[in-house]
Amino acid sequence: MKTFTPAHTDLNASNIILGLMRILELDDEAIRTLVGTARDSGINFFDHADVYGGDHGCERRFGEAITLTEAERESVIIQSKVGLRKGYFDFSKEHILRSVDESLTALNTPYLDTLLLHRPDALVEPDEVAEAFDALQGAGKVRNFGVSNHTPMQVELLKRSISQPLVFNQVQLSITHAPIIAAGVAANMAGLDQSIDRDNGILDYSRLNDMTLQAWSPFQKGFFDGVFLGDRENYADLNDIIDELAATHGVTPTAIAVAWITRHPANIQVVLGTTTPQRVRDSAAGSDLPLSREDWYRLFTAAGHVVP
Ligand SMILES: NC(=O)c1ccc[n+]([C@@H]2O[C@H](COP(=O)([O-])OP(=O)(O)OC[C@H]3O[C@@H](n4cnc5c(N)ncnc54)[C@H](OP(=O)(O)O)[C@@H]3O)[C@@H](O)[C@H]2O)c1
Repeated sequence: MKTFTPAHTDLNASNIILGLMRILELDDEAIRTLVGTARDSGINFFDHADVYGGDHGCERRFGEAITLTEAERESVIIQSKVGLRKGYFDFSKEHILRSVDESLTALNTPYLDTLLLHRPDALVEPDEVAEAFDALQGAGKVRNFGVSNHTPMQVELLKRSISQPLVFNQVQLSITHAPIIAAGVAANMAGLDQSIDRDNGILDYSRLNDMTLQAWSPFQKGFFDGVFLGDRENYADLNDIIDELAATHGVTPTAIAVAWITRHPANIQVVLGTTTPQRVRDSAAGSDLPLSREDWYRLFTAAGHVVP
């Protein structure tokens, strides 16, 4: 498992993260097996949000199933998010502080390693967010901060008020849903949809500013509409190449899908959502798999992206 130190932190982070958005219905033993498999595979980073499972539901299931000694707690990185509410977004100081307290209780931990602002709140008041972050850091409740689904200008706006570094930006990225990469490949092509910059240059901005990107839904075709792996009706060519490369490298197709993201030089972390331990193991094999430049582009074009 490849590990690295995200800029502005003292973390030693695996480049694969286990996301726990889908564990609400799992029993304690299944959660322990899932998390234990991740740990045995070298994954030390766990992603939560207050909203997963509704009202801290998944965080609570994690906290109920997993008991960590002080040393064990220090050996893992626990991340959560705040800001999504039923039908609206809320970056108010009061909500951030209350939700983090609830997350800590649900997760049964005295601190979060990382807190992300989940999706940009149209009514954000950066000074209020800054006060909340200062209070959380001062109380030892949160050690690092970041955002999710934020454009570069939204990050800049926050940075003007916030004194802590914004370390992470978690965004949607898979081979088939790759606008943050694909737009740049087809820059300035008139009439080509891929050319439209939908996020104001998140990828280049993050590299220029040493922000670490995290890729959510790494196996999903689009926005929660199923996985592309094995979908021969819509992605026959892509699956052919994935299967060929899996055989060449002696790994599963899942590892190739992970490797397409980890091969990118921006050190993008892959946030898995599977609840199947074997798929966690399979994914781990893609952590440091040296896809050639040519094979990386073959996967990219087979997924429907244009290389002009
Ligand atoms: N920041 C954000 O806005 C945001 C949004 C969404 C998610 N997230 C984070 O990202 C994580 C991943 O999201 P996701 O669950 O949508 O992504 P994903 O890993 O692409 O999808 C996982 C889902 O696909 C299923 N699946 C079916 N075949 C699979 C295969 N061959 N390989 C892998 N999975 C397969 C899994 O089922 P099984 O469980 O049965 O294996 C699971 O239901 C979440 O847990 C969460 O932490 C963040």
